Amino acid sequence: MAENETPAGKTARESASTLSESMMPDQLNHHGNVFGGEILALVDKCGGVVARRHARSPVVTVAVDRVEFRQPIYASDFVEAHGRLTHVGRTSMEVMVTVEAEQIETGRRRCTNICYLTYVALDKLNGKPAAVPPLILETDEDRRLHAAAERRRERRIADEDGE
Ligand SMILES: CC(C)(COP(=O)(O)OP(=O)(O)OC[C@H]1O[C@@H](n2cnc3c(N)ncnc32)[C@H](O)[C@@H]1OP(=O)(O)O)[C@@H](O)C(=O)NCCC(=O)NCCS
Repeated sequence: MAENETPAGKTARESASTLSESMMPDQLNHHGNVFGGEILALVDKCGGVVARRHARSPVVTVAVDRVEFRQPIYASDFVEAHGRLTHVGRTSMEVMVTVEAEQIETGRRRCTNICYLTYVALDKLNGKPAAVPPLILETDEDRRLHAAAERRRERRIADEDGE
């Protein structure tokens, strides 16, 4: 695509992705539960796949919002990260990643984390931020998540201006 060409829009459905992992003993903390850093890595990998699928170019993580671990993930849990786009700017993409832990024996699933990550697409040749396809909002859920992302973006810009 030429540098000034506007890419065609794409929906969140087209790039939504799931990454799953069965945790191993070397991924546990001193309490025998899954180490938080392992979950963060899974979340970032999942978000990165979503962003790359949308941009079809390399991306870097530019921001990770506040992350809370409200429930432990146990050693025997099967962990899934589900990522989907909530907002697309000119070169940036915000991805919502939801983490679910499934107790394999019972099939009981718990949502353990939701977080928002922002990626920037890079031009393959010069490594500079590159324009990405606009986001087509298809559903009410798309529109609700997009409006919330707009509010986060406005708050961030206001915080930066206040510094
Ligand atoms: C990502 C990077 C190339 C952006 O460079 P930059 O000079 O800040 O570029 P810009 O100011 O043009 O910003 C690019 C986009 O990022 C967005 N952005 C920048 N900082 C941001 C932040 N803290 N949170 C959310 N979005 C941010 C801008 O709003 C802009 O979005 P838009 O084009 O959709 O409007 C540069 O910050 C970088 O290389 N960071 C390191 C990335 C990295 O190593 N990540 C970890 C490993 S993957």
